[in-house]
Amino acid sequence: MADLSVKIGSVDFKNPIFTASGTFGYGTEVSDLTDISALGAIITKSITLHSREGNPPPRIVETTGGMINSIGLANIGVDQFIAEMLPAYKFFETAVIVNIAGSTVEEYCQVLKIIDAVSSNIAGYEINISCPNVKEGGMAFGVSADTTARLTERLRKLTERLIILKLSPNVTDITVIGKAAQEAGADAVSAINTLVGMSINHLSRESNIFTTYGGLSGPAIKPIALACVHKLASSLEIPVLGIGGITAIPDVVEFTLAGATAIQIGTANFRDPDIGRKIVFDLVEYCKQDKIESFDSLIGQVRVFQ
Ligand code: DHB
Repeated sequence: MADLSVKIGSVDFKNPIFTASGTFGYGTEVSDLTDISALGAIITKSITLHSREGNPPPRIVETTGGMINSIGLANIGVDQFIAEMLPAYKFFETAVIVNIAGSTVEEYCQVLKIIDAVSSNIAGYEINISCPNVKEGGMAFGVSADTTARLTERLRKLTERLIILKLSPNVTDITVIGKAAQEAGADAVSAINTLVGMSINHLSRESNIFTTYGGLSGPAIKPIALACVHKLASSLEIPVLGIGGITAIPDVVEFTLAGATAIQIGTANFRDPDIGRKIVFDLVEYCKQDKIESFDSLIGQVRVFQ
């Protein structure tokens, strides 16, 4: 069998197929629906200091080639996360990355510190600086290189575990934010989070989303995501995790050629929570048929004309 393993920072993952934050719960809800151990890693829902109800409904709507959501970082808060979820991760045979969000630098730091002090069995943290659906924090951090650097620097001092910054595409130049994260000590970046979008019902003449705007995801954003991954991988030294509309092997191969070290499956989990395991299975077959010994030999190997 081909070697599917990938390295991010000092951590080895058994394969490059991860599940994206917010699309796979805390990883504990889906054990009847799929075999989590097949995956390279799971990334949890964003955890904040206090529990959050999130935004009022309607907060999810299907769109052409994707969906728009405005969940508003609904989650159980760090204390309940530690009490109820962390113990379960001991029995997971896959790596767990905890996604963290906050509305101030202090809040991100507190959440990371609290988890890092008690947990021995997580691989690291993905930092959500790109949520489009909350008034404070979230995307406000991810659109400023200065704030990204300041936050990353503070978090870097708090843990030896992986720090992965999840970047927003809602910026003029994503590489400026990526470089700020890299220089401040991030181990990797994930790209991309959702794009700001809107959906209107022409019959009722109403917005389909309570907050008017939400985050667009799914195959509709894949070309944008590929361009962001390629730009980041071409200008950074740290690994890039690719995300945006991945539903099958061709998408995985394309993101890898664009420069992704690993990929995250997001929106597709809503249709089929077993899709990640199926893609890992298909990746083994793909490598066999193409006589690929190490899948990571494809990273960044796209042929461009100039
Ligand atoms: C939410 C967070 C995100 O990072 C995102 O891309 C979309 C939605 C949310 O919780 O609302």
